[in-house]
Amino acid sequence: MALRNILLENDPILRKKSREVTKFDEKLWILLDDMYETMIHSDGVGLAAPQVGILRRAIVVDFGDDKYELVNPEIISQKGKQCELEGCLSIPGENGYVERPTFVKIKAQNRYGKDITVIGRDRLAVCFCHEIDHLNGVLYVDKLAEPPKGAHIDEYTRLPQGYTSDKGKKVSV
Ligand code: CO
Repeated sequence: MALRNILLENDPILRKKSREVTKFDEKLWILLDDMYETMIHSDGVGLAAPQVGILRRAIVVDFGDDKYELVNPEIISQKGKQCELEGCLSIPGENGYVERPTFVKIKAQNRYGKDITVIGRDRLAVCFCHEIDHLNGVLYVDKLAEPPKGAHIDEYTRLPQGYTSDKGKKVSV
């Protein structure tokens, strides 16, 4: 296994749409292992292949005792709404609020090409949605929501264009 370099926000590769994985070979397994190691090394909870410069539809998520590697993931149903703080290894040190479903059902394949279905609730639903967005060239900063009332905001919080805080003060973005 090896650590890979994580691309940062201004890299145009992060804006490209990733292609479907069609070969479930050793090259894919090495990529997934490297992604997992890179994510853990960077204290992340999720990583998508385009973040290490590979435009293929594969993500890894480390969620407590559960780890996921999803190849060609696709959200097949979703429910509910939540607005929580998100960060991204491609945008280090910053965060922002994004509206996401509270429940997602995802169809994907494992590293051997076998069809699998996974469910994500609450925080895990956020992780899956965030990582799948990366496969479509979308970053969380494209979807910024207004922070919920009473939310903690500081200089590291990205805010939507033109956002006015509840104190009536215009916040620069
Ligand atoms: Co990210």
